[in-house]
Amino acid sequence: MFNINRFISSLEARWLGKNLEVLEEIQSTNSYLKAKSDEPIDGFLVLAESQVQGRGQSNRVWKSEAGKNLTFSLYFRPLSPKRLHSLTVVIAHSCAKVLSDFTQKQVLIKWPNDLISGGQKVGGILVESELKGNKVEKLIIGIGINVNQITFDPEIPNPTSLKLLIGKDEDVSREEVLAELCNKLETELELWNSNMPLDRASIHSNLIGYGEIGNIEVNGKMVTELTKFVGICKDGFPTFVSPTGEICKFRHEQIRFYPPPKETLSQTGTNVS
Ligand code: BTN
Repeated sequence: MFNINRFISSLEARWLGKNLEVLEEIQSTNSYLKAKSDEPIDGFLVLAESQVQGRGQSNRVWKSEAGKNLTFSLYFRPLSPKRLHSLTVVIAHSCAKVLSDFTQKQVLIKWPNDLISGGQKVGGILVESELKGNKVEKLIIGIGINVNQITFDPEIPNPTSLKLLIGKDEDVSREEVLAELCNKLETELELWNSNMPLDRASIHSNLIGYGEIGNIEVNGKMVTELTKFVGICKDGFPTFVSPTGEICKFRHEQIRFYPPPKETLSQTGTNVS
């Protein structure tokens, strides 16, 4: 069982994760926070040992073995809805850094919300918001990290966990990982809230496909021409350059980028440097 005292003793954050609820089994921590009638305090955290209807991006399911991993949601009240679109990548970047430090393995972001190490998915992020006019009514940051799970449903494409990445027999402390995530996220969310320019160089260095030529999928449809992924613009939108030099920024579309496998690059002689 998740040990709240152990978590609190590693928590340095002042408001993120300070108030928390740990539940045995619920549908989804994001859905739970969404449905809450009384408004939670800023930084409220809800963690479930088991989610029976965990949700991922694009209506996918998030499956996670009970009691082994981290499946949690944070309630966050942004000062303005202006930069909401850049929030997922800022959170993904913060998580990638914490998980890299924990595992001593490189953890990268696959646009927009996957956390990948050695080509395998270790976690994912689902940010959901409700706007009323120009005001953010509710903002929920859902995070799923595979921590101690070592066998997975064969339907999950390429999963891994922190325990597998570290390669040791002992279990990884979920409490310490969660505390480190809250510590880092609190700092980054405060910077984001104060309108600090995004640290694009650092985000780009952790972004799969940055600077590469590949295929993009826009709202579920593949675009036929190869396009160069030039990262995020200063407003946080994913930006691409077409073969004719046209710059495309995607503001509201669901974008996925597929860099070609490295062998294909050398076979076709495509050079992106
Ligand atoms: C993805 O990879 O598509 C995002 C996965 C997000 C999963 C987390 S687990 C906690 C929170 N509750 C949910 O139902 N989903 C998120």
